[in-house]
Parts: sequence; C-alpha cells; structure tokens
Amino acid sequence: MNTELSTISDPILSAIFQRRAIRAFEPVEIPVPTRDLLLQSARQAPSSFNSQPYRLYWVESPAQRDAVAKLCMSQKPAQSASALVVAVADIGSLRSTDEMQVAWMRQTGFPANKIREYERTSRIGRIIFMPGPLGLFAMLKWVLFWLLNTLKSIGMPPVTRQDQLKWAGKSTALACQNLMIAAEVVGLNTCPMEGFNGPRLARYLGLSPKYDEIVMVIAIGKRSPSYTAQPQWRRPIEATVTVL
Ligand SMILES: Cc1cc2nc3c(=O)[nH]c(=O)nc-3n(C[C@H](O)[C@H](O)[C@H](O)COP(=O)(O)O)c2cc1C
Repeated sequence: MNTELSTISDPILSAIFQRRAIRAFEPVEIPVPTRDLLLQSARQAPSSFNSQPYRLYWVESPAQRDAVAKLCMSQKPAQSASALVVAVADIGSLRSTDEMQVAWMRQTGFPANKIREYERTSRIGRIIFMPGPLGLFAMLKWVLFWLLNTLKSIGMPPVTRQDQLKWAGKSTALACQNLMIAAEVVGLNTCPMEGFNGPRLARYLGLSPKYDEIVMVIAIGKRSPSYTAQPQWRRPIEATVTVL
C-alpha cells in the first residue's frame, strides 16, 4: 500500500486522516443546523438489517452537559466539550422500527406483496431475537441453530441479550464514526470516550437496564489552540492487515 497520505485533497479522506481524539476544547456554540447535520450523518451509517438499533442523546444544555461530564469521570474532553453525544445501543426498538418501516413502505407505494414479505421476515427476525424469560428461549434457539448448522452453514444469530447488545453495538459504533468524521469535515473535533460510569449515566438518562447499553460518549467541540496532541501512532500495517 503506497498511498501518499500528504497528497490527499479529498475533504472526507482528509477528515479521516486528520481526525484525532482531542482532549481540550475551546468554548464554542454549535449552531442547530450543524448539530442536525452531524446527527443526520450518524443516522446515515449502515446498520444490521437497517434496524438502526441505537439512540443518540445530544447533550448541550450547560446543566445537563456538566452532569454527564461528571459521569464521564470528569475527563477533560467531557468537561470542555460544547456538546456530548451519548450513543446507546437499543434492542428494545426492533418492533417499533419495523412498524415505522411498514408505514413508510405503505406511504411510498411499495407493492402489497413486498410489504407482506417484509412484515413476515421482520416477524421471524423478532422471534429469533427474543431472549424470552430467564434466557430459556435463547438456550433453545442456540441448540436449534447449532443443529441447523450441522446440516447447512447458516451462521448463528445473536440469541442471548448480551449477544444482541453486542450486535446492536456494532451498528451504534458505525453511527458514532460517521458523526466524528462529519464533525471533522465541518471544522469541529471530537473525542470518543469509554471512560464513564455506565450504570449511573444510564440512570441519569432514564435508560432501560434490559434493552439499552451505552456504547460510548463523544465529546464534540473546537480544539483548544493551546492543545497539542501527541504524535499519532498506528501499528505497522502488516500487524493489522492480511491481504489474501
Ligand atoms: C471506544 C473508544 C473509547 C475511548 N475512550 C476514551 C476515553 O475514555 N478517554 C479518552 O481520552 N480517549 C478515549 N478514546 C480515544 C483513544 O484513546 C484514541 O482514539 C486513541 O488513543 C488513538 O488516538 P487518535 O484517535 O488521536 O488517533 C477512546 C477511543 C475509542 C474508540
């Protein structure tokens, strides 16, 4: 791979290569159109089955931002950010997402057979995803899929609640990355953070202990002129990439 990074002029690629995790921001207000653009960019990310299994909490009002920053262990990027985005994997929204998609298909004029087909497959999907009481159904599904896999390679769907939160976390993380790159493109900077008190932050936001899991908090703002990031290091490319 011989790409000469210094010659990149494309704004998206530049944003990807220039993005750093910034730990100190200067106080700037993020205008509503910019906020909306960042959130739309996040939503534009691909998601498994297009189920968009996440919720993004944009925290900008000073009192709430301070409270959330404290729950992010008072980390400097959280304390100095103009806004904090709490990205939550949400496995409780599957049914309502399906319903909204069916309504959209009707409005958009999809043929009735396509709508019926979508309703049928999404119902099967929801049954596969249902962990059931005490996870018993999950165990049953695991055995069933294990047996099916001995006959034909069909893969293993996420059967337990933990599997499902992990499944939803992947789509959530993609939305987060879109948001961070979009921020960079519009001249803002970010810091993704895993350093937060999950249970307390979840309680603060009124999240469901059963269906929600906070994936990360993103601090957004304008890099402080006095902040100098340490040089960026990545593993040698051969340690990360296998070309077959
Ligand atoms: C999931 C995740 C969690 C992170 N958590 C924190 C954090 O809590 N605090 C922090 O200062 N940086 C955090 N970071 C930022 C990383 O430390 C940073 O991305 C890494 O050191 C590489 O630096 P760069 O992004 O500037 O290239 C996190 C990054 C990711 C992807």
